Amino acid sequence: MKDIQFNRHRRLRSSANMRALVRETYLHKEDLIYPIFIIDGEQVKNEVSSMPGVFQISMDNLNEEMEEVTGLGIKSVILFGVPHEHDKDEQGSGAFHHNGLVQKATRFIKKEFSDVIVIADTCLCEYTSHGHCGIVEDGKILNDRSLDLLAKTAVSQAEAGADIIAPSNMMDGFVTAIRAGLDEAGYHDIPVMSYAVKYSSAFYGPFREAANGAPQFGDRKTYQMDPANRIEAFREAESDVMEGADFLIVKPALSYLDIIRDVKNNFSLPVVAYNVSGEYSMIKAAAQNGWIDEKAIVMEMLTGMKRAGADLIITYHSKDVARWLDEQK
Ligand code: PBG
Ligand code: ZN
Repeated sequence: MKDIQFNRHRRLRSSANMRALVRETYLHKEDLIYPIFIIDGEQVKNEVSSMPGVFQISMDNLNEEMEEVTGLGIKSVILFGVPHEHDKDEQGSGAFHHNGLVQKATRFIKKEFSDVIVIADTCLCEYTSHGHCGIVEDGKILNDRSLDLLAKTAVSQAEAGADIIAPSNMMDGFVTAIRAGLDEAGYHDIPVMSYAVKYSSAFYGPFREAANGAPQFGDRKTYQMDPANRIEAFREAESDVMEGADFLIVKPALSYLDIIRDVKNNFSLPVVAYNVSGEYSMIKAAAQNGWIDEKAIVMEMLTGMKRAGADLIITYHSKDVARWLDEQK
């Protein structure tokens, strides 16, 4: 065995400390964004049946929820509203109501937990009677008329104290419309975290139960992207960058790690992976059956998203991950 012609990769895997020395990717609590569903009503804490460990909570339970979140060291949350069915209308006016669910929750969190970063999801689908993300006429989702309402929603969220506006509706020009609305209202310093690359995905199924926001007719394929497309993701990201976005979200995450890498390599904004509801539900179901090691699998998945190029991850696993990161210390 003289003149050995192969590399000894195993030299750098010989012990835990040696592996730590050459580890390339780390997951930090600072990377995590935790989604919270605020439901109308009192004393509500409904576990979402398809998302064990995730709850729809009413305002009076928000303090307890935030104590837990901040106690675990999680520094940012993204808020979704779940209004009563009878409060929904054609325009989704609950989305931009001064005392809307997201607005009230934002005000509360910024008052009681002021250093937490509050990200407001900006969309209409949870508030429209038809469940679409924009204005509907004759069965069609109208782009430009939806923009005014989205801008109005963003401004009302900024007024309530939101630190970041996160539009998820996939209408063309939504970043321009929202940026203009925010600037006009004097919110020059509030960043837009754009759902720039959002695919029309079956992985959103459990979220639609959690947020009660399923479309009442048709689907979202005329505004969300075709999962088969990659080049289109460049067009979407490019226009959002031009329109003034400050962060780019890629959603979902697991089946789109190539797109996360593309966005990371080709644009210079922070990239956010949205580890969506269906991805969470699959893990939970398998874990409850004892088929997988939940902790090991979740840490591997999220590390994979970071390795793919995600700077931040919106994930329902945030609380568990924060606990597991503490255990590793
Ligand atoms: C609404 C919205 C959706 C998600 C975030 N914002 C659902 C959809 O577009 O149908 C999905 C989140 C998840 O599945 O975790 N625009
Ligand atoms: Zn929507």
